[in-house]
Amino acid sequence: MSRLIVVSNRVSVAKGRGAAGAQGGLAVAMSAALHKRGGIWFGWSGNEVEHFTGQLTMERADGFTTATVDLEPQDVDEYYNGYANRTLWPLFHYRIDLAEYENEFGRGYERVNEHFANSLHPLIEEEDVVWVQDYHFLPLGERLRAQGVRNRIGLFLHIPWPPTRLLVSLPHHERLVAAMLHYDVIGFQSVEWLESFLHYCRKEHGAEVDEDSGTVRIGNRSTIARAFPIGIDHDEFMALGETEIAKRSQQRLGGSARKRTIAIGVDRLDYSKGLPERIDALERLFSGHDDMVNQLLFVQIAPPSREDVRSYQQIRATLEQKTGQFNGAHSDVDLVPIRYVNRGFCRAELFGFYRAAKIGLVTPLRDGMNLVAKEYVAAQDPEDPGVLVLSRFAGAAEQLTDALLVNPHDGGEVARAIWTAMHMPLAERKARWEKLYAVVRDADVIGWADDFLAALMQDPALPEA
Ligand code: ADP
Ligand code: F6P
Repeated sequence: MSRLIVVSNRVSVAKGRGAAGAQGGLAVAMSAALHKRGGIWFGWSGNEVEHFTGQLTMERADGFTTATVDLEPQDVDEYYNGYANRTLWPLFHYRIDLAEYENEFGRGYERVNEHFANSLHPLIEEEDVVWVQDYHFLPLGERLRAQGVRNRIGLFLHIPWPPTRLLVSLPHHERLVAAMLHYDVIGFQSVEWLESFLHYCRKEHGAEVDEDSGTVRIGNRSTIARAFPIGIDHDEFMALGETEIAKRSQQRLGGSARKRTIAIGVDRLDYSKGLPERIDALERLFSGHDDMVNQLLFVQIAPPSREDVRSYQQIRATLEQKTGQFNGAHSDVDLVPIRYVNRGFCRAELFGFYRAAKIGLVTPLRDGMNLVAKEYVAAQDPEDPGVLVLSRFAGAAEQLTDALLVNPHDGGEVARAIWTAMHMPLAERKARWEKLYAVVRDADVIGWADDFLAALMQDPALPEA
């Protein structure tokens, strides 16, 4: 079996299946794939040094090695806070109004990709396959090719791919996508993002595109583009549900609700997650029903994210103001309708909170996949499951079609869906949940990694021109 080299901006080693501790989907997926095959997980250490040296810190993890480099403050500003999170993130989430196009961001992004290629190249051996993660490294494959690397190299994009008419607002968009076409395989979370990518390649690059196989051909170079929807680590997550921590968390939240139905939201504090719009929908529900404070408790868990970026500071201020105003208007002396919590919890605690909640509110304005939707489904009690209210604009909506699908911009529709969820008969809740759970169980993260890597190893691209 070929050795695997994973590249991602953050390298965060999962403590092992079943362990409690905050781990994103990407971290769990990469640890599982590397544990199975052995290899190297390469990326930014998260640390800053005065001057970039490219020196690698190598550490042994569970069956594989991590290799990390430190970046200098200017790199972090221009590459991570700048091009990745002030240019690409908003544009790829359809927020062209928030996208900032600064020359130095682009230069910093190119520089860090070059640094990464320089540090990574000496680690790559002949039979290795290289799997690059996410929007931080769109040009990395091209940089490695320029240095003579001929190994199989794949990219998986965890975020949406925007429609062509939005992407063309990005200066040098042609160069960015041309660089991506040096990957052998590019994976997307959903068919919608894949189709947007293929449309761009045909329209803006004049590439020959075969929709059935996802082959994008320019000259004698070809790339395979396909949808590989990511899942959760089902077995690991279900094992967490058996822990005392999960059971205590469920009782703690459930017992504190004073017989009200609990609705829950769990999201990084990001403008793509539709959090102010969610409060607006609740406003409609509460202003339309006198006694709602005695019927519904909404718990929003929202750990702060990317706090050096202005738009994230603004979304936090907006949400604080809105929840404060909402609670001022709708609380009673002994009941507060929204609990707003800005901190992380371990995954076993999250399991317990999801299970205590009879409604999962997952209403991003745009999201590559959204793993919270899948975690919420997995955590439900099969005999008395809750209802998932899910945005049509999350990648997860392509698979989780038995959720109550909503347009998150339409406060009236979201309010009606919450009302429907509150009153849904047990038989319908069970019927919907069984179908949702089958998807979450059968399309998990282990299969996702296996499918991507099989495609990467199977479909040899034509040789470089
Ligand atoms: P994104 O990758 O944009 O943050 P996802 O929904 O795909 O969105 O993944 C978020 C992951 O982070 C989920 O696994 C979720 O459980 C985890 N997460 C979100 N909020 C918290 C929190 N407060 N504490 C612990 N984990 C969290
Ligand atoms: O899901 C997209 C993503 O950017 C992941 O790559 C990342 O782990 C997560 O969101 C959190 O973002 P950040 O690493 O910028 O805190």
